[in-house]
Amino acid sequence: MALSRCARQCATAPQRVISQDGLLEVDLTAMPSVHRLGHRRAQLMTYNAQLPGPVLELQPGDTVRIHFTNRLAQPTNLHFHGLHIPPTGTGDNPFLEIPPGEAWTYEFQLPANHPAGLGWYHPHYHGRVAEQVFAGLAGPLILRGDFDAIPEIQAAPEQLLVLKDFGLTRNGQVADPSPLFRRWGREGDLLTVNGQLRPDYRLTAGQLHRLRLLNASTSKIFRLTLSEHSLYLAATDGRSLAAPVAVSEVVLAPGERAEVLVLGDRAPGSYALLSQPYDRGIAKMLSEPLETAVLATFTYADTYTDTYTGADTDAAQPARSSALPKRLLPVESLPDPVATREFILDHGIDHSSGAQFIINGKAYDHSRVDTQVKLGTVEDWVIVNRASMDHPFHLHTNHFQVLARNGEPAAVRAWKDTLNLRAYETAKLRVRFADYPGETVYHCHILDHEDQGMMGVIEMQA
Ligand code: C2O
Ligand code: CU
Ligand code: CU
Repeated sequence: MALSRCARQCATAPQRVISQDGLLEVDLTAMPSVHRLGHRRAQLMTYNAQLPGPVLELQPGDTVRIHFTNRLAQPTNLHFHGLHIPPTGTGDNPFLEIPPGEAWTYEFQLPANHPAGLGWYHPHYHGRVAEQVFAGLAGPLILRGDFDAIPEIQAAPEQLLVLKDFGLTRNGQVADPSPLFRRWGREGDLLTVNGQLRPDYRLTAGQLHRLRLLNASTSKIFRLTLSEHSLYLAATDGRSLAAPVAVSEVVLAPGERAEVLVLGDRAPGSYALLSQPYDRGIAKMLSEPLETAVLATFTYADTYTDTYTGADTDAAQPARSSALPKRLLPVESLPDPVATREFILDHGIDHSSGAQFIINGKAYDHSRVDTQVKLGTVEDWVIVNRASMDHPFHLHTNHFQVLARNGEPAAVRAWKDTLNLRAYETAKLRVRFADYPGETVYHCHILDHEDQGMMGVIEMQA
């Protein structure tokens, strides 16, 4: 007996483009497009008129060729967040400017040993990033490989969930933030999953499920729970943990990803994926209280296995594959660093330009190199948030490991590329600058803060 109806709005799957014989070639156009969000016709900016942008599915070693066209009325470019690829030329080059009406071909090759996991692509044209991402420009990147080959993971049905807030005016235009809201980081009240409001997904009783979560919001930090279900964290920012970790909630700052395993072990019915209240340091300044919201529902389909008696309600049910994997993939321990540096995140006032978001006392300047490192070396980075609100720190090209937070050693060794620092927190990261020379950036992933200067240039010297 299978349920054929969805509890609420049936979920639609995002469009996918899958690499063939070592090549992914795709036309990608940044363009204005109209989408239904609830009862409104929203005038958004998207890739290929898709919300979210098409899912690009890749394998290690693939060549990626993207024929990109800018049909927006403003300059833009692409960043491949989470990919370890060259930051220069036709690769993951954040300094490119693709003017309105112009085209550019991105072409790069993924290393043969690239880890499997979830990344995403989004604009990175400094000064316009928050506006463009808030209007809808974001698309998932799925790398298949080693992680997917773990037997329990392979047997688990997967669901991609791109989380994104939108703020619209009554006639469906993307709301422009007030100068104050721009300082805090703009947020919207429409919480979407894969471009839909409250879609309904399936769960199969007695089955292990895999949720791939991406926070593609401009500033909103999600604190997620799934009603009555335990969550097991399996990967962070597109990199496997050594073993699943039971967690009561998953907090995702903008840019962060998580792979979460869920056991389909509850009674038949619908369960809510909830966005719980989270104060990133601005709640006191908001007029509305923080609230719990339903992002999506998960409804059991097919049969239900009673977890107490072990009896299947339908004898024809295939063998259960509900076991959690004991081990995932090893997480290597990095060698000792050759240098330790400090990055102080803060806000300042500049008498000519007003408020500024700064790192080590300076607002972003694309012509200044802030940090020079030697390729192949390992460094420790101490990130200090000296401000009263959260700042998620993100580094391009290379992932890092969090060694300690506020002096407390990290409980689990894990790879990250974005780490949220709460007000006045300090974290110590360890990073190896592998493979690719050239210049790229690190920044706060609250994109309004990045646009207002909380970004620095790093040069990786061969
Ligand atoms: Cu997801 Cu530099 O960004
Ligand atoms: Cu990035
Ligand atoms: Cu910030």
